[in-house]
Amino acid sequence: MKIDTVVHKIDNSNIDEKILAQAAALLKQGELVAFPTETVYGLGADALRPEASKKIYTAKGRPSDNPLIIHVAEFEALYHIAKEVPESAKRLAAKFWPGPLTMILPKSEAVPYETTGGMDTVAIRMPDHPLALALIKAGGGYVAAPSANTSGRPSPTLAEHVYQDLSGKVAMILDGGAVGIGLESTIVDLSEEIPMILRPGYITKEMLEEVIGEVQVDPGLIAADSDVKPKAPGMKYRHYAPKANLVIVKGEPEAVVDRINAMTKEHLAAGKKVGVIGTDETIVLYEATVIKSIGSRQDEDSIARHLYAILREYDEMDVDCIFSESFATPRIGHAIMNRLLKAAGHQVIEV
Ligand code: TXA
Ligand code: MG
Repeated sequence: MKIDTVVHKIDNSNIDEKILAQAAALLKQGELVAFPTETVYGLGADALRPEASKKIYTAKGRPSDNPLIIHVAEFEALYHIAKEVPESAKRLAAKFWPGPLTMILPKSEAVPYETTGGMDTVAIRMPDHPLALALIKAGGGYVAAPSANTSGRPSPTLAEHVYQDLSGKVAMILDGGAVGIGLESTIVDLSEEIPMILRPGYITKEMLEEVIGEVQVDPGLIAADSDVKPKAPGMKYRHYAPKANLVIVKGEPEAVVDRINAMTKEHLAAGKKVGVIGTDETIVLYEATVIKSIGSRQDEDSIARHLYAILREYDEMDVDCIFSESFATPRIGHAIMNRLLKAAGHQVIEV
């Protein structure tokens, strides 16, 4: 069933109270409202109402075993939706909330299985965005929100991306402009004895370890085609695959440029259209059909911020293949490469 999707531009520093009240009313009626967070846009529904959560799965075309993150605006909310709140959760929240960190805890009875994809644990995050926080507060305090994309497409970093994927499927989109980080939150599972990262993000393993001691990384994340399944159900799906064949070239900068140019030449000679993903520092060195800079190596956050938009832009162009540099930058590189490798189906050439 198609519904009318209303889009409202919002000034994040002066939020229109009337529109906010309308958005909150929609959430309370069990409808879907998309909104910006500091990581990516989220597709919100009342997390404590099973029918509302179900609508999210339908709108996204999301497998029903893939659980949702509940977004809260106050730390105290944890006591309602988690069975217990360990010391580690308190310390991490004190340090990183509001912010790009999702914690997994055993769920309470208040949380329906429709929201957790049948799991006995619940993922919880307090986003660092004024509009997101205002909407959560006004909308009842517990907003389930996956990234606001169609399942399998890159996460949305602009309201336009949400509209491309979900117009006719959501009641309202709150357009708060471009997001800040551009990659989804770090997910840390606190439900087992040793905390484990299930999805890398802006908050790194080292940052977590400074606060709570030893943290492990889900072995299912590192393996490319192994039998070890990732612990977060969503990480097992092949996400963000662009229409063109994407290959990553890894190595010393000069050798990477040479190899990409050599492969481009071959493909152009064979009548193919070739796209390149380079950086501000290298784009002048390439010769291809389309060349895009993802950001600057001097500013790794800029690379994270533009990754999904670049993949979407290439989806709209009819290139046959894309060659990308590798972006294993010092801090957020682990998160960037986790997404880029998935988009490339783990096709990497080392030079
Ligand atoms: O930055 C973000 O986290 C964004 C914004 C909107 O907040 N949200 C987001 O949600 O990325 P989503 O649904 O696209 O990704 C949630 C991931 C999925 O991989 C899901 O499988 C995992 O979190 N997840 C959720 N609950 C879980 C649980 N109880 N146990 C293990 N993994 C869980
Ligand atoms: Mg997602």
